[in-house]
Amino acid sequence: EIRVWDGSTQEVLSPVYVQTPTGLVRKVIGSYPLPMDDNEALDALNAAVRAFDNGRGEWPTMSVTDRIQCMERFVGKMMEQKKAVVNLLMWEIGKTLADSTKEFDRTVQYIYDTIDAFKDIDRAGSRFRIEEGIIGQIRRSPLGVVLCMGPFNYPLNETYTTLIPAILMGNTVLFKPPKHGTLLHHPLLEAFRTSFPKGVVNTVYGRGATVVPTLMKSGKINVLALIGSSRVADSLKKMHPKSNRLRAILSLDAKNAAIILPDADIELTVKECMLGSMSFNGQRCTALKILWVHRSIADKFLARFGEELNKLKPGMPWSKGAQVTPLPEPGKPAYLDECLRDAEAQGAKILNDGGGTTVESFVFPALVYPVKDGMKLYREEQFGPVVPVVPFDDIEEPIEYVINSDHGQQVSIFGSETGQIAQLIDPLVNQVSRVNINAQCQRGPDTFPFTGRKDSAEGTLSVEDALRSFSIRTVVATKD
Ligand code: G3H
Repeated sequence: EIRVWDGSTQEVLSPVYVQTPTGLVRKVIGSYPLPMDDNEALDALNAAVRAFDNGRGEWPTMSVTDRIQCMERFVGKMMEQKKAVVNLLMWEIGKTLADSTKEFDRTVQYIYDTIDAFKDIDRAGSRFRIEEGIIGQIRRSPLGVVLCMGPFNYPLNETYTTLIPAILMGNTVLFKPPKHGTLLHHPLLEAFRTSFPKGVVNTVYGRGATVVPTLMKSGKINVLALIGSSRVADSLKKMHPKSNRLRAILSLDAKNAAIILPDADIELTVKECMLGSMSFNGQRCTALKILWVHRSIADKFLARFGEELNKLKPGMPWSKGAQVTPLPEPGKPAYLDECLRDAEAQGAKILNDGGGTTVESFVFPALVYPVKDGMKLYREEQFGPVVPVVPFDDIEEPIEYVINSDHGQQVSIFGSETGQIAQLIDPLVNQVSRVNINAQCQRGPDTFPFTGRKDSAEGTLSVEDALRSFSIRTVVATKD
């Protein structure tokens, strides 16, 4: 059956406001075809299922060399679209020109690194092993149909972080762009279409709340690759009729803490905590979302941190030097305000001038102190420009906080005495997946394993880990 699009579209709104005769409104920056209803989503799914064809399709049986050629063709065409994609990143999610350019370049580099790692995996797989009279070739084979969904804060990079390795390993994919971060994928769709065989890469639009459950309930998704919230991941997994057979590669919520010891170098700590909590307005899963500072240096640290916050320059994403930019999620300013009012009602103060002030979709960063258990900011992942700070007297207090957290992504420790830092590493690295010493939390370099414990992740991403995640080790064996 061929269905005909009825011509309706979904408008895409920028976080940037413009003046209209009826007042200030979010600027309309484009549209995409809608509604993509359940049937259309299933059409896309079935195209991926057909292209995989139970492992007999052109793509999963194509030689590694040919698959690499297709990917190289794609990345060549992708680079031609750099200007358009960077421009849309700025308009759609409010990311600065420098960071949007970095996101694009980092993604291109990620693709090249993944191609190299894929060659290594293939070389290792082509070696034969002879043991106990059996000659075996141990390979890596694809898993089937992968559903990839990335988040709004890295709509290109984190979508491709799963999409690219999934494709290279011989899977066929469906990808659903994030609601804020859809349009920027458009310039690249033609590159996919002309670089890979039909049905290998399929795009799904529409309201995630309706379209994605339909895909999951079909039982035809073999791998769910989601970078987003643990609540969404849990509910999607349950919808799959054979959820115990579904492979899930998930990067989810986090509430990364910094632990600032009495002998921390204040300047270095302020610099790293600023980067950690303020890059892209705090909208990174790896952002520092709570700072624990030893009471003996709290005043000094807070004074310097507040000074640096006040220097941050608000501006449009394309304006030179802009550091505070519009937030793409329409409900975020109100949510952050609720967190700030809740903290104030329980005795905390906003320490910096104008902290928390909201104008249109801008929220000026706020430094909140002293934060304590019971406040929303103590446990909730604010994912925005608000920095809660908790004083401590005993090192056991922040360690207990990390242990009792539902999240387990990363921690940063700041201090000078290497012996004391060394003692903290084991207890912490057994709770989270990365401990950063005198440095902010971050995902990169992308060749490092990226994962988390508890509600923060399932499976591991990185250049090489991702290739492993989207494949299974198989054996072709014969008797010697
Ligand atoms: O939002 C989550 C990202 O994985 C953070 O990546 O540390 O490179 O900013 P990043």
